[in-house]
Amino acid sequence: MAPVLRAIAVTYPGRPDQAGHVRADLRRILDGCPIADDVILCASELAANAALHSDSRNRGGTFAVRAEIRPGSYVQIAVEDDGGPWIEQAPDPARGRGLDIVRALATDWGTNTSPDSRTVWARLNWTA
Ligand SMILES: Nc1ncnc2c1ncn2[C@@H]1O[C@H](COP(=O)(O)OP(=O)(O)OP(=O)(O)O)[C@@H](O)[C@H]1O
Ligand SMILES: [Mg+2]
Repeated sequence: MAPVLRAIAVTYPGRPDQAGHVRADLRRILDGCPIADDVILCASELAANAALHSDSRNRGGTFAVRAEIRPGSYVQIAVEDDGGPWIEQAPDPARGRGLDIVRALATDWGTNTSPDSRTVWARLNWTA
């Protein structure tokens, strides 16, 4: 039998406090998923980055979180922000851990840039 595909897409105001809503919304849709904690952690870091670092942080800005859930295969999350520059900061021991977490937990991840937005995505293998 083909695996059931579940997918969600939700848009949030571009504020760091929305990361909690992202976590709560994903927790509901990932009920029964063995990698839910890892997926939620990655999505939370990407959502925080969108709200803190991209143009989504500007007045009226938003970011969107999408999740594609293929039970037994993988979960892919994507956070689309309002674009703007990606400026690597000078080394700061207190920052720069969010994407390290994503790199450690995801099978693959990447960014897609368009004129008005940027999408950062991560795919995590469905392992029991
Ligand atoms: N959506 C984004 N838009 C623009 N720049 C980004 C985005 N995501 C990440 N970055 C850039 O990549 C850097 C590294 O991101 P990372 O999440 O690893 O660290 P951080 O957000 O600075 O700190 P931490 O996540 O540890 O609190 C950021 O400081 C920022 O310069
Ligand atoms: Mg971060």
